[in-house]
Amino acid sequence: MTTMIDGTRIARRIRAQVAAEVAAATGAGAIPGLATVLVGDDPASAVYVAAKRRAIGEAGMRDFHRHLSAHATQDEVAAVIDELAADPQVSGILLQLPLPGRLDAVALIDRIPVIKDVDGLTTASAGLLARGERGLRPCTPSGVVELLDAEGVRLKSAHVAVVGWGELVGRPLTQLLLRRGATVSVAHEFTADLAAVTRPADIVVVATGVRGLIGPEHVSPGAVVIDVGIHRTPSGLTGDVRSAELDGIAGRITPVPGGVGPMTIAMLMVNTLLAARWSAEREDVVAQEASGMSGMSGMSGNSPAA
Ligand SMILES: NC(=O)c1ccc[n+]([C@@H]2O[C@H](COP(=O)([O-])OP(=O)(O)OC[C@H]3O[C@@H](n4cnc5c(N)ncnc54)[C@H](O)[C@@H]3O)[C@@H](O)[C@H]2O)c1
Repeated sequence: MTTMIDGTRIARRIRAQVAAEVAAATGAGAIPGLATVLVGDDPASAVYVAAKRRAIGEAGMRDFHRHLSAHATQDEVAAVIDELAADPQVSGILLQLPLPGRLDAVALIDRIPVIKDVDGLTTASAGLLARGERGLRPCTPSGVVELLDAEGVRLKSAHVAVVGWGELVGRPLTQLLLRRGATVSVAHEFTADLAAVTRPADIVVVATGVRGLIGPEHVSPGAVVIDVGIHRTPSGLTGDVRSAELDGIAGRITPVPGGVGPMTIAMLMVNTLLAARWSAEREDVVAQEASGMSGMSGMSGNSPAA
């Protein structure tokens, strides 16, 4: 029998933990604040940003939203990012993707200071992940790992097939899984025999953007299947996996919606809390160094901003 992994329930628990920590920290220091930056009027992006802002409110954090017109220039978007970067009340900055095609998205993402990079997508954050140093990790792949942990799926020595090597999901996920002791096989659009890569795996994670790519021919009995794909169809949301066809074959599987999607938002809340905490730690160190009290200056070398 195949069990559905309830990402909504796991995400709710994580968000409640974050909210409890925010409430507990309120007296002692600043409330974490998250700035969402939306450029243009793409309806899907507007829905995602609205969901993120609802989560910010429910976590008891401050909501600093900026909406720029679809005609905003590179310099105008950069100026908004710089202003948020300089604002001490803003713990994290999220630039909603995709941006209008004429903007240089990489340059704008890399303007976000690494300590406020709650999406974990800057070049600096990718470097910290690659080096295994402390930093903010991309929300969707860290949500996948959190989901597997919450389900008690052992990663150490497990064989995981990651299908899709995109910058948002597959690539950072591969690094996270390797660090957890998994053996990882990565498949992509040029993989000659996809089933040969996925069938031996204990866990198959699919993040390709190809609707219904994975079916029974790709999955061994009992495997855990994580579907990261999201496709809007007239009959609702669906994923990269033909999940109905895997019923009775997969051991556990994430539904779409209600699997990885809610985890992405939960991990954004976790990252914002971490960003606020690490920023406060760094300020403590700076204050101690300024007052000549600190023998702790090495800590700043370990901060996500280093
Ligand atoms: N659930 C969430 O919160 C969430 C968040 C981010 C992305 N997504 C979804 O995840 C999917 C992937 O996103 P991305 O930004 O990493 O995509 P991407 O376009 O950057 O990368 C897609 C990857 O899939 C591979 N691929 C394409 N066709 C393939 C095929 N036939 N066989 C094997 N591999 C193939 C490509 O080689 C590439 O490595 C999308 O459907 C996106 O909507 C979901």
